[in-house]
Amino acid sequence: MSVNKSVKLIRSKSKGRRPKVGIILGSGLGFFADIVENKLSFSYDDLPGFPKAGVAGHAGQLTLGQISGTEIAVLQGRAHYYESGQANVMKTPVHTLAELGCEILILTNAAGSLIPDAKPGSVMLLTDHINFTGVSPLFGEQGNARFVDMVDAYDPELRKSFQEIANQQGITLYKGVYTWFCGPSFETPAEIKAAKLLGGDAVGMSTVPEVVLARFFGLKVVALSIITNMAAGMSATALSHEQTMENADRAAKDLETLLSEFFQNSHA
Ligand code: HPA
Repeated sequence: MSVNKSVKLIRSKSKGRRPKVGIILGSGLGFFADIVENKLSFSYDDLPGFPKAGVAGHAGQLTLGQISGTEIAVLQGRAHYYESGQANVMKTPVHTLAELGCEILILTNAAGSLIPDAKPGSVMLLTDHINFTGVSPLFGEQGNARFVDMVDAYDPELRKSFQEIANQQGITLYKGVYTWFCGPSFETPAEIKAAKLLGGDAVGMSTVPEVVLARFFGLKVVALSIITNMAAGMSATALSHEQTMENADRAAKDLETLLSEFFQNSHA
């Protein structure tokens, strides 16, 4: 299995480092890797089973290091379902984090908002998701473990920790349900209306497969969206990837504060 090869390679070069927390950085959030100390990076291209770096803004590397004393593993760059039509493209990376010793996976993404108050530049803590694509990264898995319980998939304790940090830091943290659309075209206004009616608060093209995989591999999950735009039909501004990247910078500072404070408190 390619995961074994990747884990072996990382272990052989990382002198017994054991990351406790894994983090996947979404579009425009790669900057976060800059604040990691004692970095040791591996290109996805050298790790069997890892995807090739895809969309602009995604570097395609795994970095081991520390933030505020916590041993972490950062996945800078994710592959999306829309790139290949394969929902399990992040299986080896997520499995690798679990094998390296991570117990928690923090997922970040850029998302469109369905809540009028949660404007571009805000941060949303995900409480649950709706899989609007009908596909699963676990298609083809064998055995009973594939029937993953998705109740409290977004870990209540970790959510509480992030809420407390936000309160302490005076950061408004929206909470909501993430709706996964497959992309790469943005949603239609009718799809956004449907998502709202069904209980969605944010919309995006990633994260859900990684949450399912993380739960499959036994990792606790917490997920944070930076709101880069109002969803289709909710504002006069045309949707584009460029706009996503520009607005990612605006919420980045709050996200960086939330994560740094979390790491400050999480080392054992
Ligand atoms: N829709 C889907 N994905 C996104 C959006 C959106 O509005 N914004 C950022 N990623």
